[in-house]
Amino acid sequence: MPRELIVDLGARSYRILCGAGLLEQTGFLLAGLKLSPSCLLVTNATVGPLYASRVEASLQEAGFNSQTVVVPEGEAAKSLAVAARLYDAALEAGLDRQSAVIALGGGIVGDVAGFGAATFLRGVPFVQIPTTILAQVDASVGGKVAVNHPLGKNLVGAFHQPRLVVSDLATLATLPLREVKAGLAEVIKYGVIADAGFFAYLEEKVAAALALEPAVLAEIVYHSCLIKAHIVEKDECEGGLRAILNFGHTLGHALETLTGYGALHHGEAVAVGMVAAARLAQARGWLAAVEVGRLLNLLKQTGLPVAIPPLEQESLLKAIERDKKTRGGTLHMVLPRRIGKVEVVPVSLEELKTVLF
Ligand SMILES: NC(=O)c1ccc[n+]([C@@H]2O[C@H](COP(=O)([O-])OP(=O)(O)OC[C@H]3O[C@@H](n4cnc5c(N)ncnc54)[C@H](O)[C@@H]3O)[C@@H](O)[C@H]2O)c1
Ligand SMILES: [Zn+2]
Repeated sequence: MPRELIVDLGARSYRILCGAGLLEQTGFLLAGLKLSPSCLLVTNATVGPLYASRVEASLQEAGFNSQTVVVPEGEAAKSLAVAARLYDAALEAGLDRQSAVIALGGGIVGDVAGFGAATFLRGVPFVQIPTTILAQVDASVGGKVAVNHPLGKNLVGAFHQPRLVVSDLATLATLPLREVKAGLAEVIKYGVIADAGFFAYLEEKVAAALALEPAVLAEIVYHSCLIKAHIVEKDECEGGLRAILNFGHTLGHALETLTGYGALHHGEAVAVGMVAAARLAQARGWLAAVEVGRLLNLLKQTGLPVAIPPLEQESLLKAIERDKKTRGGTLHMVLPRRIGKVEVVPVSLEELKTVLF
């Protein structure tokens, strides 16, 4: 039986299902959503050949007419040009306002397909079938959709909640190990920001998680979604609380920018960012050394980097400052008080320097 949870957002509430072998049930699961028969399945050249035929067959069996669009690999897919291709395909396939756009793939496919769904006909139903750990525990939940701009990632986007999220854990079997580890960085983040018990579970099960043990994966994906869902329910459009999801991301984003996107995977950059934030909290006397040690240890056991790569001080601070500008004025960071509890607080560059260099 799949595990199920509901993201409670009033009229925009939706179900998240996670379990093995759900791809084959896609059509049946969509049949309850009062959708038009025509729909668009968006995937990429890696995931499509592995899994699209199962989804297509299931949709067909349930009476849907699906048209499949393959978008490019990598961040290049998150562009207005690719979104325009989705509109063309949606028109060709005869989508109407009750037709679904279905994303089958990692966070990149989800973000661009979701952006297409949010904007086509001023918004059509969107369904997520995430196939990476990162997408299952993070990108598919919460309704943020976006494409990139030459000046920065995710600069053009919307909040458009999915109507359903179907996380088939069996798809993770083909995921490269590096992607598994990067996804687990965000899972560890959830433990630190919201749930000490979950963090302890991860400490105990890290080897099983890396080996993709089904029961452990199920618990990890379900529990992470639960934590994110609770946060999103309280703050759908990022007015306040949702900011705690950015733990490890201030330095993480700066590292991604400076090392060039792709060199350091997002999850790897976040791992380093979490260590820096934890050290800062320790320097403030907030976080006990033993807790910093536990975080460091868990990240290392997951196979994630924990040391800041050698970068020029000036450019690193500049990249962090740029991040601050987009949020208006003062640099804010998410700092742990203890594992399971964080606060968003102003941090000066001087203070940051003491742990960065
Ligand atoms: N919307 C949000 O709230 C949100 C949150 C976090 C991240 N994101 C976005 O998500 C993106 C990153 O997502 P990602 O880490 O999933 O990367 P991704 O989509 O690039 O997927 C990683 C790689 O794995 C491949 N892949 C996917 N599923 C596979 C499978 N089952 N088997 C084999 N290979 C598979 C992909 O083709 C890709 O090469 C970023 O663009 C980020 O901005 C969005
Ligand atoms: Zn992240």
